[in-house]
Amino acid sequence: MVDHLLGIEGLSKNEIHRYLESAQSFVEVSERDIKKVPTLRGKTIVNIFFEPSTRTLASFDIAGKRLSADTINVSAGASSVKKGETLLDTVRTLESMNPDVLVIRHSESGAPHFVAQHLSRASVVNAGDGAHEHPTQALLDLLTLRQHFAESGRDIEGIKIGFVGDVRHSRVARSNIWGHLALGNRVRLIGPTTLVPRDLATVFRSDRVEVAHSLQEGLDGLDVVVCLRMQLERQDEHFIPNLDEYSKEYCVSERVLARCCPQSVVLHPGPMNRGTEVTGDVADGPRSLIRRQVNNGVAVRMAVLYLLARTAEPHEVFEP
Ligand code: NCD
Repeated sequence: MVDHLLGIEGLSKNEIHRYLESAQSFVEVSERDIKKVPTLRGKTIVNIFFEPSTRTLASFDIAGKRLSADTINVSAGASSVKKGETLLDTVRTLESMNPDVLVIRHSESGAPHFVAQHLSRASVVNAGDGAHEHPTQALLDLLTLRQHFAESGRDIEGIKIGFVGDVRHSRVARSNIWGHLALGNRVRLIGPTTLVPRDLATVFRSDRVEVAHSLQEGLDGLDVVVCLRMQLERQDEHFIPNLDEYSKEYCVSERVLARCCPQSVVLHPGPMNRGTEVTGDVADGPRSLIRRQVNNGVAVRMAVLYLLARTAEPHEVFEP
């Protein structure tokens, strides 16, 4: 049977740790002088992106190349989709080229699942589907936190994490929340009622998810604060008066962090709007793990491609 990575929902704690351990073993490859291993030589990876992307596409492409696979990138603007071809036809055309992995980003929730159901030979990786899931972003966020807590002798399991801002439209938050719940963590969703409606928490069917509408109350006692981008492209109505008003209430600044959760670290999946979601002093300051997130992006995607595309091998962790 062909394996896919379509979401974090439904993954067990062990499955998540398996991805993270494999990713950790690939961090070292990217620090070498010659950043290449022969592991996926002869395999073909197609990255098909129906939505814009900078870091996700670049890191999937680099990850495939560092594993010695052949990679091609297709963007929707340049493909036959513009000429009216359906998603399924486009994907079938690409499948006839016999790829081993198809990495797909799409504005419709569920598009990668639809593609996976219709392909028989290739593994499908979800690189972000609508407001639904973005599993590799969640894995790289989890890897970043696992490294951070390990450095101070702590465990990533048992922490308290908060997501601030446009949780309603954020696939990054959704995937992360499933991951943190699987690890036994407590989650707080923080933002105005329009972007963090009370019933959003019920989606996760867990009493470890709570909602707060004020930043002060929401940040209280958190170990980790994740700032989310305002997903204006996914908002089909007015959810906030304007960005200035929003940032007065919800922009995460050093002042509010120092008061509410002085030990916390800060993540942002990017692209980041400084002064709207997070202030520059936080983004560039000592509690920021944002650069580290980007660095871990390649290792996580190498692990995902490796675990899905390797030809049955006994070990899970790459041994250089
Ligand atoms: C995120 C995405 O595209 O979902 N970005 C990313 O992959 N690094 C978050 C966002 O666009 O806000």
